[in-house]
Amino acid sequence: MPIVVSMINWKGGVGKTSLTLHLAAGLASRHSKRVLLIDLDAQCNLSFLAVGLSRYVNHTYKSNGSTLKTIFDAYFERSKIKPKDVILSKNVRARADRVFTQVDIVLSHQELTLLDMKLAREKRSGRDHREETRFEIEKLSVIKNIIDEVSDNYDYVLLDCPPNVNLVTQNAFFASDYYVVPAIPDFLSTVGISQIAKYMDQFNQDYRSMWAYAGLSDNYVETKFGGIIFNMVDEYGGGPKDGHNQIMTSTAAQLGSGAIFKNYVTDGDGMSAAAQVNLPVFAFSDLPRSQQNAEKQANYMSRVVDEFHKRII
Ligand SMILES: Nc1ncnc2c1ncn2[C@@H]1O[C@H](COP(=O)(O)OP(=O)(O)O)[C@@H](O)[C@H]1O
Ligand SMILES: [Mg+2]
Repeated sequence: MPIVVSMINWKGGVGKTSLTLHLAAGLASRHSKRVLLIDLDAQCNLSFLAVGLSRYVNHTYKSNGSTLKTIFDAYFERSKIKPKDVILSKNVRARADRVFTQVDIVLSHQELTLLDMKLAREKRSGRDHREETRFEIEKLSVIKNIIDEVSDNYDYVLLDCPPNVNLVTQNAFFASDYYVVPAIPDFLSTVGISQIAKYMDQFNQDYRSMWAYAGLSDNYVETKFGGIIFNMVDEYGGGPKDGHNQIMTSTAAQLGSGAIFKNYVTDGDGMSAAAQVNLPVFAFSDLPRSQQNAEKQANYMSRVVDEFHKRII
């Protein structure tokens, strides 16, 4: 069984997508893990980053290839799809001339937003309230069902979530064992974190009672908090600079020191230099610029990956 992790924060631009890709890359290259990435954001940033924009456009629009939308379309049409038709293998870029053999991806689609509204509107009438609750659970289980079908093939499934709590995102939570929160150590990013925990507690509670009411056989598995990963940290003299350090310390005081990854990722232009050519920073020597900065960020990222591997079990 893979460990399924949702990467979430209601704030955009904090590094959810970048960290999702780098965790996958690092778990594969440093720990020989098999990873499935699922891009749930209609902005498709993870998809573009992982396979490159032109390849994405070719696959999705020119060749009419499958994406996450195909999975939801099948749900609406009550038809069955084979996971291997929607999972792209050997497409996630590792180096200038190489792809990851152990990282697969389900690409996103810009129409996912429309699909979400359709999902919200859909109401199937059942014989009784219990059956209708089962239908509601089915609506939340679209992604979980696909993951269950390929559970022998992966050690981790990482879900890059959009910054909202709509039904597609709730599908991610419903499928996940953990949620991990990437955050920038600034005021606005961190005030939101306790909000996220509150929401997740509420979801767990709601899903658990729906599950019990529907009379399903096995138990509902809660989505546990996996920790906060600080990103874009500014350093001074070998540690986070004062302002960032204060926020990281006060977040730890508020949520408990165990709530925070000890390792973090620094701010630097290596990350954007790598993103520009659709590579992870681990491929720093293949970058046309900012190789040194990318190497530095790759070192920080490696430590985060190793800590993730130890914590998220
Ligand atoms: N550690 C970092 N240092 C510098 N830039 C970063 C770092 N992490 C992410 N970025 C950049 O910040 C922007 C937002 O990151 P992204 O991962 O897309 O965030 P989100 O998914 O939360 O919206 C991107 O342009 C990305 O390249
Ligand atoms: Mg994103």
